[in-house]
Formats: sequence, C-alpha cells, structure tokens
Amino acid sequence: MSVHLPAGLELRGATSADLPGAAALLAERGDPADAVDVGLVAADQGMDSIGVVLEGDRVVATATLLEETLHVAGTAVPAGQVELVATDTAYEGRGLASALMAWAHTRSAQRGDLLQLMIGIPYFYRRFGYEYVQPIPRWQQLTTAPPPPPDVDVRRATPGDLPELQRLQDRAQAQVDLRLPHSSACWRWLLVHDATEVWVAHRDGRPVGMVRTLPPSGGAAAAELAADDDQAALALLAHAAGPCSEPLKVQHRHGLAAAVVAQLAEATEPAEWYYGRVPDLPALLHHLTPVLCERLRDAGLPASQELLLSTYQQHWRLHLTESGVRVVAQGGAEQAPVSKGGSGIPPDAIASLVIGALGAAGLEQRLPDCLLGRQREALTALFPPLTADLLTFYLPV
Ligand SMILES: CC(C)(COP(=O)(O)OP(=O)(O)OC[C@H]1O[C@@H](n2cnc3c(N)ncnc32)[C@H](O)[C@@H]1OP(=O)(O)O)[C@@H](O)C(=O)NCCC(=O)NCCS
Repeated sequence: MSVHLPAGLELRGATSADLPGAAALLAERGDPADAVDVGLVAADQGMDSIGVVLEGDRVVATATLLEETLHVAGTAVPAGQVELVATDTAYEGRGLASALMAWAHTRSAQRGDLLQLMIGIPYFYRRFGYEYVQPIPRWQQLTTAPPPPPDVDVRRATPGDLPELQRLQDRAQAQVDLRLPHSSACWRWLLVHDATEVWVAHRDGRPVGMVRTLPPSGGAAAAELAADDDQAALALLAHAAGPCSEPLKVQHRHGLAAAVVAQLAEATEPAEWYYGRVPDLPALLHHLTPVLCERLRDAGLPASQELLLSTYQQHWRLHLTESGVRVVAQGGAEQAPVSKGGSGIPPDAIASLVIGALGAAGLEQRLPDCLLGRQREALTALFPPLTADLLTFYLPV
C-alpha cells in the first residue's frame, strides 16, 4: 500500500533500503537504542510492519505496528501496538504521524486485529481514537536493598531459558482479567537488545524467577518481576539494585512479587495509563461471546440479550446469544437511547467499556454522558471493571 501525501511525499511499508534512514530518525528523535529495535522488528515481523514517509529516498517519518495478543478473561484477541513513532523536526506539523497512524490502523484491521493498545506521549494518540483504558502499574522506589539470599544465583537470560521465562510470566499473570504476554518475537528481541536486560534466578540449576531491568545508565529500574517464591524475588531485586548508585525503581505487579516489593518500597510516581482503541465494537463483542455469556450467567441473567447501544453519533441494536453477537440494526445519531430502553456510551469511552479499569458502572459514575438506563443490570454484568497486566516491548518508564 502506497499513499501519496501533499508536497510529493510518499507513505508506504519500508524496504530494506529504508531501514538505515528509519533507524537514524528514531535514534535522533527518541533513544539511540531504538535504531537497534526497529531492525529487530523488521527482521522478525517483516519489513512492511514498519511504515515510512519518504521525500525522494529520504525517510522523514516512521511508525511500526507490532503484533500482539490480548487475553480477555481467557479469550485471545488479536491486537496491534503502534511503536517507534517519529517525524523529522523539519517535517513536523504536516500530518505525517497522523498519516502513519491511519496506515497502521488499516494494516492492523487487515491483519484481523480487533483492538489496539499502546503506550505513548500524553494526549496525542487520543486524536486517533485511543482512550486511556488501564493504569500503568506504579513505579515504587526501593527504600531498602535486600541482602541476596545465599541459595539463589542470578544471571542474564539466554534463549534456552525462554520456556521457563514464559512459564514464570504466565503464572504471574494468571490472576488478572486482561493479560498481554510478550509475543514470541518480542521475547527474542528482549534477549538480544541492550536497552533492557532480562535476568533469571536459579536455585539448584532450576529457574525460579525473572526480572527485566534498565541498565543503571538507563535509569535503574526493574519490571516484570515474576518469581516462584519470596527468596527468588529478593535475589532478583538485590541483583538489580546492586550496581545502582541511586535507589532502584520497581514496577508494581499483582501476586507474590507485589507483597515482597511492598515490604521494601514505597510508591512514588502517579500512575500513567495505557491507551486502547476499539475500532469496531460489534466485531469485538462477537469475538468475546463466550466471555460475555459467562458473565451474564454468573450474574444470574439470561445469556440471550437484546441491547441498544448508542455513542450518540451512531448506534447498534445487538442480539447476544451463545452463538454470537448479531447486529440487528445499526445507524447514525441516536440522541436519546435511554428513552428507547438503551444505553448511551460516548464514543471516546467504547474501549474503556470493554477493556477498561472502571467497567460500565464506573464509567457511568464518572462521565455525565455515559447513561446505562434500563440496561444497567445487563451492562454492569457484561462489562465489569477489569484488572490488567500488560507486557510491552518498551517499558513504560
Ligand atoms: C509526536 C510526533 C511523532 C508528531 O509528529 P507530526 O508528524 O508532527 O504529527 P502530525 O503532523 O501528524 O500531527 C501534529 C498535530 O499534533 C499536534 N501534536 C504534536 N505533538 C502533540 C502532543 N504531544 N500532544 C498533542 N498534540 C500534539 C500538533 O500540534 C499538530 O496539531 P494540528 O494538526 O492541529 O496542527 C513528532 O513530534 C515526534 O517525532 N516527536 C518526537 C518523538 C516522539 O515523541 N514520538 C512519539 C513517541 S510515543
């Protein structure tokens, strides 16, 4: 797909000839390590997962679409994540990042993605249909560096550790409603790039924990802590804190690691939020049919429901049954859904409704234009507040 932009610029998927230019631009506008990362993504996911805007053969803007899978209450949902976004300063404000976002979303939809998630600079991505859906776990400052337990060794992870790393992360994520594991490709990138480091704890030659750190020069931070027991978690924290001249920042995690970290650290920074985007609500709901029916049953409600949902700009009449979500009717503006027995959800709260931390009831409390009406009981059951644990290529520091 090639798009002609004003002033003779062209947007298209990258070729190998574009890669050095994209890498140099990312290094200049972001982090020097981004130049390595874009090469890793290109080699693994394919060159055309990187979008470039060219003037002649010069790369003046770029963005990358990563392939992800979000697990929603156990159901795998194909998702995209946009990363490595940059525009040459001389070309800013000409709509190039906006054009690249449109390119990424088209590509994501063609791939079959039902939503997009990302971490990004404040506000900007709301322009492209993203909402703040889930808080990024807080960073906590280690007030006491623990002594290393004698029976646990810590060393850099290697590709041979991958099955155990995945096991540890699956276990750490087991209790949350929304989980984004690292893709297999992302694990490979993490084990070879230098921007972050993955460490494994061993006891008697057996992996019992892992942590991902920023090198001390990169800000002394540890995330993705997952351990089979407290001693393994302490060994990893002691190791991560060891070379740092300043207190180590540790990212909060549900489960065992949280209790260990809580004893040693205090929360410092206010939570930022992950962005989420749901371009086609009925399609996502259809995909989530088993989850939705189970939630209705758990609430003692019939698993067959007629729903009217309006974003005020457009609306859908949906029929939910065990066999799927059928769009009975859809149309444009529906200003008074509540008086027709339906619910009004503002268009910028659609992703929050389905994958958000607040759930339908929390949104209604917070947003004056989120009106559940007579469908309150059903929507509250269908869309509860969700906990999340999202592993991303870039640490949200
Ligand atoms: C952020 C960045 C990618 C924008 O690129 P761009 O090609 O100038 O973006 P566009 O021209 O498509 O959009 C610019 C519009 O967004 C606005 N904008 C730019 N940065 C913004 C921000 N942080 N928040 C909100 N709006 C922003 C501009 O004012 C402009 O608005 P207008 O269209 O109403 O005039 C570019 O400034 C950049 O490379 N920054 C450094 C690297 C970076 O931060 N990358 C993103 C990491 S998540």
